[in-house]
Amino acid sequence: MENGRAQFSTKLGVVAVTVGSAVGLGNIWRFPFEAGIHGGGAFLLLNLFFVFVIGVPVICAEFIIGRHTGSNVRTAFRKVAPGKAWGVVGFIGLLASILIISFYSVVAGWTMEYIYQSFTGFSGVHSVEGLHDRFDAFAASNWRPAMWTVLFLLCNYVILVRGVEKGIEKMSNILMPLLFLILIIFAVHSLTLPAASEGLEFLFNPDFSKITPRVVLGAMGQAFFSLSLGLGCLITYSSYFTRKTGLMKTAFLTAGLDTLVAVLAGVIIFPAVFSFGQEPAAGPKLVFEVLPSVFANLPGSMFWSAAFFVLLFLASLTSTISMSEIQIAYFMEERNMRRSGATNLSVLIAMVLGVGCALSFGCLGNLKIGGMTLFNLFDYVSSNILLPVGGFLLSLFVGWSLKRSIIVKELLNGSDSRWQRRLVGGIVFCLRFIAPVCILAVFVYGLL
Ligand code: TRP
Repeated sequence: MENGRAQFSTKLGVVAVTVGSAVGLGNIWRFPFEAGIHGGGAFLLLNLFFVFVIGVPVICAEFIIGRHTGSNVRTAFRKVAPGKAWGVVGFIGLLASILIISFYSVVAGWTMEYIYQSFTGFSGVHSVEGLHDRFDAFAASNWRPAMWTVLFLLCNYVILVRGVEKGIEKMSNILMPLLFLILIIFAVHSLTLPAASEGLEFLFNPDFSKITPRVVLGAMGQAFFSLSLGLGCLITYSSYFTRKTGLMKTAFLTAGLDTLVAVLAGVIIFPAVFSFGQEPAAGPKLVFEVLPSVFANLPGSMFWSAAFFVLLFLASLTSTISMSEIQIAYFMEERNMRRSGATNLSVLIAMVLGVGCALSFGCLGNLKIGGMTLFNLFDYVSSNILLPVGGFLLSLFVGWSLKRSIIVKELLNGSDSRWQRRLVGGIVFCLRFIAPVCILAVFVYGLL
């Protein structure tokens, strides 16, 4: 316990927790459905560009601020930029985390319903049409999705009140490797499906004619969302890092593993989509309609389906915990609330908004703002607008305003290797020019 604050205890813990925050529904649910809507290969290619050219440097920016200050987002900016307007990043982050956790909990709730349905063997329904109807009936029933959303948030609550170190670290350490393993098993299985090559072609062969402003904006939004980037989540997490953590290495590892999981999810989903004659552009329901038919083909389908949804549920928990942690750290350190009060408040807000999002698939389906349901609106505004704006400001701040000596000290961590120095130079260059210009360009191109 340096500075009297909790810290992650082991090296593996640091990486597992950071990857645990990044890996979640964003990779396994959001990536396939976004890639499905936005043309597959072209979307993946753009996404890779955004992850490594903008994502990694902005992860480093968040890490630098977090570990340097050892504080939550708002306090961090007060320390590094006293009296300046940069603190607005903290507010954007707070707002975005509230919106994201609301719709995210709905999908996490769906995973709980699917755990339950796995045990009943999907009541023997395995045809594609049957599974579509089942999902629609479930979503339209109103009370069921709302109930699961609330239950999910209660699980979130139980872990949060136990504190950072004990709750999150232990879970991520066990969970991440298990999730990887099961994904690899499913991916191998998907490759044996009859139309596997069509699916792989869709995912890996970019059709450049599919690139439109919305596709570019979507690919950037997906990169930010999947990396947990732009709202100070990683500032909060890295404030718990010890001096020994290599920030650049952790940034690359997080981006690499996170992208690997998303690609694996794509390799699982798209061969199945094409083999079972489904529509890749089905939207948020895609994964939930396609996967059960994948499992149905495996020996011991009930076990696989239950195991998968349990892991997905846990991976969602490690992600929502990271979002709640932003709000809790803020309420505690800025508003002088106790951990229990801060946790209550954060979970309560999420429940109210979350139930609203859950009902978007049922009785609130006709409530449209800007042509989007509450669920879609929260997703669109946070992923495609708030997170990139946060990333834009973070890169400008660290690139132009933060003392160079702080950046170098945090990133190099006492190393004097030449290539690491070069890498630091490259990252600073990205933060100063490439990231802000790209984000701005995508906005102008995508939103006009
Ligand atoms: N990255 C997580 C996922 O892919 C979601 C997430 C957790 C997130 N914390 C975040 C997204 C902070 C944006 C910002 O599921």
